[in-house]
Amino acid sequence: MNPRSVLFVCLGNICRSPVAEGVFRHALSKRIGEQAALAWKIDSAGTSAYHAGKSPDPRSQASARLHGVDLSKQRSRAFEVADFNAFEHILVMDSANHVNVCALAKHPEEKDRVQLILEASFPGHNKPVPDPYYGGDQGFESVYQLLAQASEDWLDQWL
Ligand code: 4NP
Repeated sequence: MNPRSVLFVCLGNICRSPVAEGVFRHALSKRIGEQAALAWKIDSAGTSAYHAGKSPDPRSQASARLHGVDLSKQRSRAFEVADFNAFEHILVMDSANHVNVCALAKHPEEKDRVQLILEASFPGHNKPVPDPYYGGDQGFESVYQLLAQASEDWLDQWL
């Protein structure tokens, strides 16, 4: 397994986890440099395949772009069982994602590697990243802020 690998997971892989992927890669590059960051395996996926093949939601792309993060090359895909072998850390957005990912685990050790992404920022609070899909633009900005802080907090732990 790649020792430097992280997968971000939400429901549709068009709103929250694409932002998580983009902002994490951006934060990592700032800390260790773009070249060194390329050695990390960073991806995102959805627990559903509803939006497979689609670009991130335009509202997610717009809010990330305001902060200098380009999500335009990312495409939605469904989480698959093989992801347990491919990624050391599996960071989910909410408890429903947690239940759905863990339901696919074949070994207890795999479930141990599935964590709520906001656990690094708010340990023990079971705090979700709210789904902004049915809301307004402000929801996307607040998702961005939560995920930018979470990236810094995970990197503090991992680097
Ligand atoms: P995401 O948001 O899980 O953050 O990508 C959603 C995207 C699409 C739907 C729900 C949530 N949907 O029901 O289509």
